[in-house]
Amino acid sequence: MKLPVCGEEQVIMEAIRNNTVVVICGETGSGKTTQVPQFLYEAGWSHPDSDNPGLIAITQPRRVAAVSMAKRVGYELNLPESVVSHQIRYDVTTSEKTRIKFMTDGVLLRELSQDLLLTKYSVIIIDEAHERNLNTDILIGVVSRVLKLRAELSREDRAKIKPLRVVIMSATLRVSDFTENSTLFTKPPPVISVNARQYPVSIHFNKRTPEDHVAEAFKKVSKIHDRLPEGGILIFLTGQNEIQHLCKLLREKYPSLPPKAALEERKRIRQAAELELKRDAAIPGEESDSDDSDSDLGFDEEELVSTKDGKWEYIYKCEYGKFTYTISYAAPLHVLPLYSSLPTEAQLRVFQPPPEGTRLCVIATNVAETSVTIPGIRYVVDCGKAKERRYDIKTGVQSFEVDWTSKASAGQRAGRAGRTGPGHCYRLYSSAVFDHDFEQFSTPEISRMPIEGVVLNMKSMGIDNVVNFPFPTPPERQTLSKAEKLLGYLGAIDTDVKHITPVGQAMANLPVTPRFAKMLVIGNQQDCLPFVIAIVAALSTEIAKARRRLMRKKYFESQIKHAGLDRSSDILKLLNVVGAYEYAGATAEFCEENFLRSKAMEEIRKLRWQLTNLMAALFENVDVWVDPKMLPPTKRQIKFLKQVITAGFIDSVAIRKDVIENGGQGGTRFKNARGVAYKLMWSEEEAFIHPGSILYSQEPPIALVYNELFKGATKTCFKGVTAIDTKWLPEIGKEFCSFGRPLDHPIPKYSEQTKDKKTVYVVPSFGPKGWPLPPIQV
Ligand code: CDP
Ligand code: MG
Repeated sequence: MKLPVCGEEQVIMEAIRNNTVVVICGETGSGKTTQVPQFLYEAGWSHPDSDNPGLIAITQPRRVAAVSMAKRVGYELNLPESVVSHQIRYDVTTSEKTRIKFMTDGVLLRELSQDLLLTKYSVIIIDEAHERNLNTDILIGVVSRVLKLRAELSREDRAKIKPLRVVIMSATLRVSDFTENSTLFTKPPPVISVNARQYPVSIHFNKRTPEDHVAEAFKKVSKIHDRLPEGGILIFLTGQNEIQHLCKLLREKYPSLPPKAALEERKRIRQAAELELKRDAAIPGEESDSDDSDSDLGFDEEELVSTKDGKWEYIYKCEYGKFTYTISYAAPLHVLPLYSSLPTEAQLRVFQPPPEGTRLCVIATNVAETSVTIPGIRYVVDCGKAKERRYDIKTGVQSFEVDWTSKASAGQRAGRAGRTGPGHCYRLYSSAVFDHDFEQFSTPEISRMPIEGVVLNMKSMGIDNVVNFPFPTPPERQTLSKAEKLLGYLGAIDTDVKHITPVGQAMANLPVTPRFAKMLVIGNQQDCLPFVIAIVAALSTEIAKARRRLMRKKYFESQIKHAGLDRSSDILKLLNVVGAYEYAGATAEFCEENFLRSKAMEEIRKLRWQLTNLMAALFENVDVWVDPKMLPPTKRQIKFLKQVITAGFIDSVAIRKDVIENGGQGGTRFKNARGVAYKLMWSEEEAFIHPGSILYSQEPPIALVYNELFKGATKTCFKGVTAIDTKWLPEIGKEFCSFGRPLDHPIPKYSEQTKDKKTVYVVPSFGPKGWPLPPIQV
């Protein structure tokens, strides 16, 4: 009843009754997540025979929150799990009786592809909107569409479904992306701000920013625990490993059972006590010394009676009598970890009061920043960093990297200390770092992700029209349609209806850019998957610099001979480098000798592991291969790998200019690629093979795919070149090969049938410009 949001119940309910969309802002812990669904429930929403019989849905970006909040609300309403239920990816408790349903936003998005009008629901509460996760943003966009679609229904159709309300909840007041965005909601939704009771929190910056924030956190927590009055401590670290490590350190220092030094001390005290008791009890004349070896009695002879005020009080019993003694050392800390992969039961322990005489100490990731509020926190220790999902904009590879959070997040974290009374926040970094290195707000995830990945993701949710999609922070239309085009070429979407294909669906499961996803998806044949994975891993890692230097070192090539030297592709060369590195025992010396960055090589190995596990999880016939060493690919496999590379870079084909000008025929003979111009597929531009390429010193191929275009001062160059056979194109690049007679070119002689009359050669007109290609066998 004392939660700030309860004071606004009437205002909130009235707003929801009178508006289709309502925004609620309120500090973390003000009761939004736990109370608003209850207001609705108690006002009759979701009752089977009311006007609004549909379910009340609450979406959460994190699974932890979906589960724990459902449990909490069920407890507060005294209703079973079958009524206040949760649904996350692998855990569902919903039933016929469900009235309130907590779920992750991913789950609701998947439901939307089945039931676009959300006919099951009476209210959709989108929680934690301030986090600006990709799924939350997309969900808000889709839901705004759902509302429009519903509004456009005919009167009869509309009568068949119940009205739907949308509530967007945010822990910050920064909601203009939702309210002032006319593509989202026709009428700006009202914003209700809940004034939370927030006690002052004193912020303490470190003088210096330490290298090791875990060690620093350990020191800080020790100080707080040893010197400051009671109150829970909440520590923000970046991930599970750090959390477990700090848990161990703190549990060792402040155990709930005596540490080793104290055991020694106790032994000493007990022995002395026993001697004394013995002396007191001794009958004069009896031998009292001699053998004291069995005076070392077991612990079961004594009893721990209290652990108050940093003192452990024991009662010790021996055959000579009873003896009470105390040992003082620090009061025990009740240390609990909190991160999302922790089992639910363990997560819920943070909400329970700590055992008497102990101080609560929760070590958490940014789960505790806004999603869950832990009661009784008075001290916050903030390392200032968070593990963030990062996307390499070029490769689309996701990684989790540790970096400074934003000023807004740091403020949220500090705020956790002021829920129950004045508090303290210790920031383990200097104010200079805070001023200079912290962003004001974190960027919405959608702006950090490569757009092709976002588009593929949306297609996999059944959103076909992405160009006009109402994003809270819209990407540029042009980049959206470009991404859509690429997906078409990759065969991930149908080029006419723009709907996802089965291949696209498989690709959408992989957290890499669609190009690489395509390579992985089709690479699972001819025993080539390990190679394809190694190629993707190598291309995703910044070893470009080393690569160029390496090219100059001719001798390096002889060293990698065992890995099967193929001189027709820079990418296969990269594969050789990976193979040679592993073959040589993956040592730093090898890297040094061969001008490789050993960090990058380690990274490649890690990525290979990750991708292999992922592929094994997604496709039944993938074995998790254990040996990082690869045998070199066979000739047949090399050809296949080049086709896989072509498939991933099918929009990056270039054909030799002289061949095109010659109507698709052989053209001139060149000794090397110097000065030999190529025409790019999508522009009038000309480009040249970069001198750093393995192909530069050879007869230049008629067709190639490139990884990268590099604009130099005088000309544009290809990097990461693979020579390809044009015969592959109609098969691999179906989408942009059209067969028939090119408009401006005569039919070359060889486009007729061959002598054996079996093989038919055709000339495809190629790409948007109707380029002729050398003959293709189909
Ligand atoms: O959503 P918001 O951050 O506004 O607050 P909430 O999650 O609804 O939490 C309201 C209060 O309920 C907080 O003081 C929490 O500490 C408390 N709570 C709890 O004691 N046990 C839970 N399992 C969940 C919340
Ligand atoms: Mg909440």
